[in-house]
Amino acid sequence: MIHIPTLMITALGPTHGRKDFKCGAEILDRYLEKQAGQDVKRRISRVYVATDLQHPQVIIGFYTLSTLSIDLKQLPDQLAQKLPRHPVPAALIGRLAVNKTAQGQGVGTMLLADAIKRTLAVSDQIAIYAIVVDAMNDNASKFYEQFGFTRLSDDPQRLFLPLKSIHF
Ligand SMILES: CC(C)(COP(=O)(O)OP(=O)(O)OC[C@H]1O[C@@H](n2cnc3c(N)ncnc32)[C@H](O)[C@@H]1OP(=O)(O)O)[C@@H](O)C(=O)NCCC(=O)NCCS
Repeated sequence: MIHIPTLMITALGPTHGRKDFKCGAEILDRYLEKQAGQDVKRRISRVYVATDLQHPQVIIGFYTLSTLSIDLKQLPDQLAQKLPRHPVPAALIGRLAVNKTAQGQGVGTMLLADAIKRTLAVSDQIAIYAIVVDAMNDNASKFYEQFGFTRLSDDPQRLFLPLKSIHF
């Protein structure tokens, strides 16, 4: 259930306060503060932030979106055998985090849904086979598994969801 009714998700911009974000995983906090802006400038990643309409400069959560290709060896056999014998295109949610004070209120789910919607929209123009997420640990993997993501065979922290299995 969503407990923040006035949540907005927009591209990271110069007015967003990146320093005060604390999700409990320092590596993600530091990424947002120090690296995210540069990645956007260099077109390495797109970064989207969740904010509340009342305090639009306060980052409640964020995620990053970029592309990668999946080697067929990483996919389960029953999927791989239906695909051409070369790597397939995917969208990558490299990082996703929610500020500690807002966790457990549906923001993570909203961010994931937003990333999937954007990926589906782009996939009308540029083919994308699946959406991939990098989970920081087993606990984070469980967060994604409940939405249907399954682990890639050679990397337990990387999970994927074929776009054809998504129905909004
Ligand atoms: C993991 C994280 C993104 C979840 O965001 P959130 O806003 O707290 O999650 P939501 O409120 O949308 O929760 C949705 C569901 O996922 C479950 N969930 C939340 N965090 C979970 C976790 N770490 N492990 C397993 N399940 C989790 C919730 O219980 C909820 O289930 P319910 O609907 O049955 O109650 C957030 O806790 C976070 O930022 N953690 C620190 C950073 C991190 O681990 N990021 C993960 C990707 S690297």
